[in-house]
Amino acid sequence: KSFLQKLWKGNVSSKMLTPRLQKARREYLRANKLGVNFNGKQNSRKLNPQELLCVLKDRAQVKTLDGKDAPFSSLGWEKYFPKIALNKLYPHGFSTCAVVSSAGAILNSSLGAEIDSHDAVLRFNSAPTRNYEKDVGNKTTLRIINSQILTNPNHHFTDSSLYKDVTLIAWDPSPYYADLHMWYHKPDYNLFPPYEKHRKRNPDQPFYILHPKFTWELWKIIQENSNEKIQPNPPSSGFIGILIMMSMCRTVHVYEYIPSYRQTDLCHYHEQYYDAACTLGAYHPLLYEKMLIQRINQGTEDNLLRKGKVILPGFSSIHC
Ligand code: C5P
Repeated sequence: KSFLQKLWKGNVSSKMLTPRLQKARREYLRANKLGVNFNGKQNSRKLNPQELLCVLKDRAQVKTLDGKDAPFSSLGWEKYFPKIALNKLYPHGFSTCAVVSSAGAILNSSLGAEIDSHDAVLRFNSAPTRNYEKDVGNKTTLRIINSQILTNPNHHFTDSSLYKDVTLIAWDPSPYYADLHMWYHKPDYNLFPPYEKHRKRNPDQPFYILHPKFTWELWKIIQENSNEKIQPNPPSSGFIGILIMMSMCRTVHVYEYIPSYRQTDLCHYHEQYYDAACTLGAYHPLLYEKMLIQRINQGTEDNLLRKGKVILPGFSSIHC
């Protein structure tokens, strides 16, 4: 069986990666730049899908900064964060939602119309829709952006239409002991000044910063349910986004996160850059994230093969 077929069945390990990606994982483990000290336990028994869903529903509760905690409270930041919390922004939730990964494999998928038929669509970072409508659709309801989007001038965060008329959710890797003081003074990329500036100019646009506790809680759930040591870095925007949508939607359809038969080393559908790490992980524990998502997939294997599509129940549809 090919690696891809094994991934669809959820039977892969880091040993099946290329030596370069195995080495990258080992080096991130050795460097442990964010000071991860996992003292939870790896589940001795493999949880069944329903048990896994219940763990996620119970623990993966979306948390964003609200300015009430130090240092933000004493810095007078409460006024910059949106008054309506993210979990209250869409009070009725959505019926069906699409999460669109940025993988090159979505090219030539003709999934655009299907994606746009959902009630809400989540996209990532600088992934465009213009000129790619046929494959990725053109509706965007929410966009998750990492701190590099806000700080790297190449992304034109202030001017680009990609970041207008959508709900924005930004995040940045914090040290494992998510002390907000430490993180505020030493973020990976300093997203705070551009965030403040954007909020002053666009006070009506819903724009949140994820609390690092949320991303590390997701990391712990992945580690507890993997049988290897996972990279000691936060999960990818894709995994974070899937969990956010599970809290807002009754059903979540995820496209080309677990690759279809179109799998390619093309990193993003909108860029000429080839690297298998984008799909299988170097910095992010992507392989393990994807195996976890594969385990809770309620869609058919045919959907996975042809569309790279996983179907997940939202938290409101899970009864624990
Ligand atoms: O690269 P970027 O983080 O902007 O891509 C958005 C998300 O899409 C990733 O976090 C990852 O979850 C997913 N992705 C993927 N395979 C790729 C590229 C992106 O699974 N080749």
